[in-house]
Amino acid sequence: MSLIDESLLPTDDDVAFYEEHGYWIGPKVLDDAFLDRLRLAMYQVYAAEFETGKEPWGGPWVLGDNRLAVRKMDQAHWANNTFRELVTHATIGAIAARLARTPEVRLWHDQLLYKPGQGPNAKAGGNVGWHQDRNYWQCTTDNLLTAWVAFDDVTVQNGCMLAVPGSHKWGLIEGNFFEQDLEAFKTKIVRELGHEWKTVPLEIPAGALSFHHCLTIHGSGPNFTHKPRRSLVLHLMPDDAHYVAGTPNDNHMNAILMRERGGRDGDRFAGDLWPVLYSERTPAAV
Ligand SMILES: [Fe+2]
Repeated sequence: MSLIDESLLPTDDDVAFYEEHGYWIGPKVLDDAFLDRLRLAMYQVYAAEFETGKEPWGGPWVLGDNRLAVRKMDQAHWANNTFRELVTHATIGAIAARLARTPEVRLWHDQLLYKPGQGPNAKAGGNVGWHQDRNYWQCTTDNLLTAWVAFDDVTVQNGCMLAVPGSHKWGLIEGNFFEQDLEAFKTKIVRELGHEWKTVPLEIPAGALSFHHCLTIHGSGPNFTHKPRRSLVLHLMPDDAHYVAGTPNDNHMNAILMRERGGRDGDRFAGDLWPVLYSERTPAAV
């Protein structure tokens, strides 16, 4: 595990901003050499070269899948040690711990994302539909958060993430990551629920990261450039995250993994499958 760089941790004002708006744009945490290794690792796993010998969850991205669509691969760190290094990054864990005000941060799961460049005439297929991550994670507590790590400079032009500030206070709203019609959801929010619709582009340079709460509505538009927009997101859980059985998400990967290990309702998601990024617990108590 890497050492914590205290100079990169959020201030009290940053934590207050995150709690008020449901997102926070963080600092650059990765140097260029590490970024080069991550980009290489991405192409290796897409080529089904798994240096650990273990496939990501759901297997490799298959050549022949829609080349214009966003590629999403879960648990890339199972297959590649460079990704493992990233998902256990101590400074990222320490930042998340401050934002979530928790003594321990563990990995819920990772997600490798590749948004192909479609050029100036980009059409749908490269969008990420408006959603709250919580929609998919009702099988645990509702205070998880996500660290979105950029492998390239991300801007509105190449389809950076867009967040709806304050929406983490609106409760759970049905959304869909794969929906390409970004207007319909927006209409529902404004007309049916009466909220003001506003989005903030989370533009960050390569090696930097943004954070968002699991109830914050987010999505993204097309990549109008000719280069891919590459990233890995670390979905992170606080110390108290435990299995809540019998929810609509009982088929989530982590619910399945928990049950395969004999876990039951109320058990903490902890152990080898959910690596620790940050902990104030004493080793004996882990
Ligand atoms: Fe998401």
